[in-house]
Amino acid sequence: MPKYRNSLNVDPDDQDPIISRRSFLALIGTGVCVLGACQFTGASMLGFLYPNAMKTPPSVFTLGRPEEILAREGKVFDPKQKIFVETSNGRVRVQTAVCTHLGCTVNMVDTGYACPCHGSTYDRVGRNTGGPAPLPLVFFLVYKGASGELMVDKSKTTLDYDAAWYSPTV
Ligand code: FES
Repeated sequence: MPKYRNSLNVDPDDQDPIISRRSFLALIGTGVCVLGACQFTGASMLGFLYPNAMKTPPSVFTLGRPEEILAREGKVFDPKQKIFVETSNGRVRVQTAVCTHLGCTVNMVDTGYACPCHGSTYDRVGRNTGGPAPLPLVFFLVYKGASGELMVDKSKTTLDYDAAWYSPTV
């Protein structure tokens, strides 16, 4: 049975200024544990303190400056976002390039769109016209963000191809 027992296993009455090896290791071990606990708690607390409203939802992304987007006419495929960005007369609209059958990326063809996977076809505004695709290709909400850039929100969709046009005031 040891003479003393405390968290560092040291004799509180010991006047010897030299710390023992065992006490030193116990001290280091305790320090590492406390540091780890503080780091974990601190990281968790920061996560709670950072408001969710400050985070951009993953469904929202920027298209770019309106003057750059509207400078071109026609339809452009964006492979990163799997979307078609169409501009015409100072307006822009954004449509998904993801097939409504099983999610392959559709290609632009003369008649509209065609899916290379199982042969679904869509007309020029994305209405399904053939093959196994059960639904049309949706359009996404386009708006001008606080930074002045054109933003797309993939969580807000419409099948109304006329209402999908967005006309920013440049
Ligand atoms: S994924 Fe497009 S037709 Fe099947």
